[in-house]
Amino acid sequence: MAKKHISFTLNRQNIDVLVEPRELLIHVIREQLQKTGSHIGCETSHCGACTLDLNGQSVKACTVLAVQAEGGEVLTVEGLLQNDKLHPLQEAFMQEHGLQCGFCTPGMLMRAYRFLQENPQPTEAEIRSGMAGNLCRCTGYQNIIKAVQTAAKNMASA
Ligand code: FES
Ligand code: FES
Repeated sequence: MAKKHISFTLNRQNIDVLVEPRELLIHVIREQLQKTGSHIGCETSHCGACTLDLNGQSVKACTVLAVQAEGGEVLTVEGLLQNDKLHPLQEAFMQEHGLQCGFCTPGMLMRAYRFLQENPQPTEAEIRSGMAGNLCRCTGYQNIIKAVQTAAKNMASA
């Protein structure tokens, strides 16, 4: 099938890339654009390891075609770092030990990023529900929830 040029912003930079109509966004981001922070776990929309931000919404990039990003804004975990400064969520995940192997972490961070934009002062139950689409095999979730709570507190007082 004929390839197609698509343009979008990736972490605030303009991107133009040639893709096949059947190619998934996660593959283009990782393989062509070399942003390997977003991980591939299940490839069936269950685990959330591939979660990134597309046009202000959390998406699981293993179930989004790259052509759907045309003209859009994509933010990956690499884009959370600004002016060499970690995002408060990244700081909080470190502080609260919100990770062990780290495989789920980029997806967790990107989901938490969008979740806190939508709900800056969530209850614990709201965090659990908001993060329910992201699976972790290591942490038992307690410290991930704590990290999101800490980030919310720090962002509110910043
Ligand atoms: S790799 Fe996309 S949800 Fe698991
Ligand atoms: S820290 Fe290992 S899968 Fe979450």
